[in-house]
Amino acid sequence: MFETHTIDNVAKPAFYRELCRQLDALLQGARDPIANSANTSALLFHLMPQLNWAGFYFLHSSELVLGPFQGKPACVRIAVGQGVCGSAVARRQSIVVADVHAFPGYIACDAASRSELVMPLKDQDAILGVIDLDSPPPGRFDDDDRAGIERVAALYMAYSRRS
Ligand code: SME
Repeated sequence: MFETHTIDNVAKPAFYRELCRQLDALLQGARDPIANSANTSALLFHLMPQLNWAGFYFLHSSELVLGPFQGKPACVRIAVGQGVCGSAVARRQSIVVADVHAFPGYIACDAASRSELVMPLKDQDAILGVIDLDSPPPGRFDDDDRAGIERVAALYMAYSRRS
């Protein structure tokens, strides 16, 4: 059984180096996209401080559909261009929201969420979905988190077989 190891009191770049080392070990030899997204969600949720939701949405036609996650039940479908997740897909780039109440069209799934980071899953030119992280404190995510989760998304994509 894979053990998660807590990472305390280190700067964010070091934190993400260790998180990616654990993710790499976790995904070794595993190619199923759903299994890998389930385990990636669990690792993020249990290792990252101050998260109340961590998970995946996958793009089907022009809609994002809920994938594996950790946290409270969430909305199942998000149109491209809607909410933070759909906006990240439409803009084809990650979005860090310091205060979700100030984001036009924000979709609330858990009233406790105050800040959010959404990272597109890219396969060359195609976008397959997003990783979504929510946090209760405002301003939880910064550029170090953006860079760290970009590496997490790239690792997930490298290991997961797509048909
Ligand atoms: N807040 C997101 C919806 C997904 S939940 O946070 C899990 C959004 O605005 O797209």
